[in-house]
Amino acid sequence: MHLRQRHPDDIASCVEIMRRTHHDSAYPIYWPDDPAGFLGNEAELKAWVAVDPDNGIVGHVALHRADEAAAMQAIQAKGPTEAEGYAVVSRLLVHPQAQGHGLGKRLLDTAVDYSVSRGQHPILVVTKNTPDAIQFYEALGWNRIGSMTVELPVRPDIEMWVYTAP
Ligand SMILES: CC(C)(COP(=O)(O)OP(=O)(O)OC[C@H]1O[C@@H](n2cnc3c(N)ncnc32)[C@H](O)[C@@H]1OP(=O)(O)O)[C@@H](O)C(=O)NCCC(=O)NCCS
Repeated sequence: MHLRQRHPDDIASCVEIMRRTHHDSAYPIYWPDDPAGFLGNEAELKAWVAVDPDNGIVGHVALHRADEAAAMQAIQAKGPTEAEGYAVVSRLLVHPQAQGHGLGKRLLDTAVDYSVSRGQHPILVVTKNTPDAIQFYEALGWNRIGSMTVELPVRPDIEMWVYTAP
């Protein structure tokens, strides 16, 4: 298994993994209208995939700019700070058949290391209805610092926890 930077033609495989995590783990909670755009977002700083020699792409993670107002509100509630000092670990996905073997941690560490190398504190947000993901982050020492609500025009709001890195 090796990790490398995501290429544009990897997106279709990543969308198929996301289809599985949406079905099995309710992440993302709503299937996006534009799944490729959800994964390859304009806020993205960099993204990586995990490649299994036999099965191809089995995991994905991205690092995003921390310019979403809602996430920064939770950070700023702790004290005045600038969004440029933070980056958001996002779109972490491991194919269900590859879960439980340390791959999620490797992907998370990769995004965290890159954030730190840029001089930015890593943060992340996680939907309150994904207990496995919450336990995963907390097992790895992430600190819950607040909550936020993503308001959607035609669907129920998404309630999320905000975490900072250990
Ligand atoms: C959450 C997810 C990324 C974790 O990936 P993974 O490869 O299964 O996790 P890992 O094997 O790397 O686990 C790393 C550590 O977290 C712990 N952990 C993982 N899931 C856990 C759970 N449900 N409860 C408690 N601990 C858990 C592991 O025991 C392991 O601890 P260890 O290092 O002491 O052995 C993966 O399950 C996934 O893709 N879920 C669906 C999508 C999703 O929810 N993404 C998060 C969006 S915010």
